[in-house]
Amino acid sequence: MSNPFGMRPGIILLREGTDTSQVGFCHFPIFFSFFSLENYHISPFIDTVLSYHPTTIYCINFIQGKPQLISNINACYAVSDAVRTTLGPSGRDKLVFDGSNVTISNDGATIMKLLEIEHPAARTLVDISMSQDAEVGDGTTSVVLLAGEVLQQIKPLVEEGVPPQIIRRYLSEAGQLAVQKVLDMAVPFEGAAKKDMLLKCASTALNSKLIASHQDLFAPMVVDAVTLLAEKDRLDDVNSLVGIKKIPGGDVRQSFWVQGVAFKKTFSYAGFDQMTKKFQDPKVLLLNVELELKSEKENAEVRITDPADYQKIVDAEWQVIYDKMDACINCGANIVLSRLPIGDLATQYFADKGLFCAGRVQEDDLRRVSKATGAAVQTTTTGLAADVLGTCGVFEERQVGDQRFNVFTDCPLSLTSTIVLRGGTEQFIAESERSVHDALMVVKRAIKSGSVVAGGGAVEMQVSRFLRNHALTIEGKGQLIVNAFAKALEVIPQQLSDNAGFDATDILSALRRKHAVEGDDGKWFGVDVTTGSVCDTFASGVWEPSDNKSNSISAAVEAACVILSIDETIIAPKSQDPGANATGMMNSQGKPMSSMMGNAMAASQGGARSGQLGPGVSYMKGRG
Ligand SMILES: Nc1ncnc2c1ncn2[C@@H]1O[C@H](COP(=O)(O)OP(=O)(O)O)[C@@H](O)[C@H]1O
Ligand SMILES: [Mg+2]
Repeated sequence: MSNPFGMRPGIILLREGTDTSQVGFCHFPIFFSFFSLENYHISPFIDTVLSYHPTTIYCINFIQGKPQLISNINACYAVSDAVRTTLGPSGRDKLVFDGSNVTISNDGATIMKLLEIEHPAARTLVDISMSQDAEVGDGTTSVVLLAGEVLQQIKPLVEEGVPPQIIRRYLSEAGQLAVQKVLDMAVPFEGAAKKDMLLKCASTALNSKLIASHQDLFAPMVVDAVTLLAEKDRLDDVNSLVGIKKIPGGDVRQSFWVQGVAFKKTFSYAGFDQMTKKFQDPKVLLLNVELELKSEKENAEVRITDPADYQKIVDAEWQVIYDKMDACINCGANIVLSRLPIGDLATQYFADKGLFCAGRVQEDDLRRVSKATGAAVQTTTTGLAADVLGTCGVFEERQVGDQRFNVFTDCPLSLTSTIVLRGGTEQFIAESERSVHDALMVVKRAIKSGSVVAGGGAVEMQVSRFLRNHALTIEGKGQLIVNAFAKALEVIPQQLSDNAGFDATDILSALRRKHAVEGDDGKWFGVDVTTGSVCDTFASGVWEPSDNKSNSISAAVEAACVILSIDETIIAPKSQDPGANATGMMNSQGKPMSSMMGNAMAASQGGARSGQLGPGVSYMKGRG
């Protein structure tokens, strides 16, 4: 019998699709509904294929077209549902336990990453939350929620048979209009008002975090650290120049910011206590050299015949290390730091000569000391000269809680700074770090975009109203699609109210009225999460960088369009391997998947995505 297919089919075992069949590709308990065996059956088609290539066929997924779309939409909605309750100042945190580690977080990107979502389409949502994190640093929950809601609102249209191509076209048009509207509404800031604006942006970002009640402490730290870099046009180096040190223990209010470098005291040897621990204008020497007697740690075997030779070897060893130490002292250094160990002999020697030394300094700390003081890291002590030394205004060893810190302040190249976080538990500090990082990124983004919009759902309500009006100018299905998108935007104020324990229906109708009736006067009305009513959130200082909103709208629309472009998922044999990638994915004709799906897959694996929705919307990078 000849093979009717003419080629080896690269496809796999059959699964009968149901709308909910794919919701279960997630390791998180709430999504437990993995494929069951009943979902698989062997069709006559597969019977035929199996008879030709019994060993090469694994699975054919028969969900196609509408059921596939609905299935993907359901999966995405389920994923967005998982982070829904974390939104806003009254949002709760998620505790994610992966079998060994516990993470408590409110950050959308962190939760999405920890959920280990395997559903191929739903991973697009993970990707947009990661890219929002990399691009803006905040708004990671909002973007997932919005994308899930857009799909949910579009679902009835898909069920009614509106072609996905039409939906995609109108959605992306509406997305562009929405982004433009956000940019039109944005309020620019400069001059004296700038610092105040930035403080409010940082506070808004911290509002929803575990450390919200300490924003008076953290917001100024974050703004100072970022403006320091902005003045020298080094905003892009926030991550490398602003160090965040987590020191478990003590009280969260013992956290502090140092304009300079601070790191925890390293392991020290005898002689350390006699060292000078405070210097004014010291000379700093940075080394990548071990200052330890070699014989202490190495088991070298040396054969000698004359006992006097033994003394020569010992003397030579001592001479080597003394030469190194003298080189450090002679070049004029007061502080010697090394990435490698500095042993007890050197510690005592330096102490006697009035120097301070620390070995085993972490590489990033050493790099930041180098950037702050201007010292160049040396890999040898031979030929040390004064020009490799750095300096700072004050160096001291400072006690913070029950820990000691080496602190370099008033550094001449004062770009680097360090935020030292304290707190009771490791999880608390880890979440504080993520929150401070979000706030840093928000301030950076606010400075870059130079404009803000009001949060609390105000901007979403105004854009929603604008789109509803715009929808009236469209005839046919486009009107329904744009209206569905406008409705989806309301998910933000609705969820903010829900999470705060207020009646979302009442608040939404009050907001709709404000935005419709009062026109521009009512445009900044959003949810007042303290009283359960509506208020002018611009006036109450709930401010977010305009890029945050424009990025999240464009990313959500982009993700929805990608999901709507998928009409079939095929589990390729390669995907059964842990290291599998999207190249194994094919459509039912054995051809590579559509480029959109390919993009979605590449993106979900950290690849770059492309596309731009409008002016001012910067490009979404891959997973950050
Ligand atoms: N004081 C506040 N009143 C009302 N809404 C607020 C307040 N502070 C923050 N928000 C809103 O909370 C939302 C952000 O919540 P958050 O949990 O940080 O999620 P995301 O990860 O999307 O940033 C934004 O819509 C923001 O406007
Ligand atoms: Mg936030």
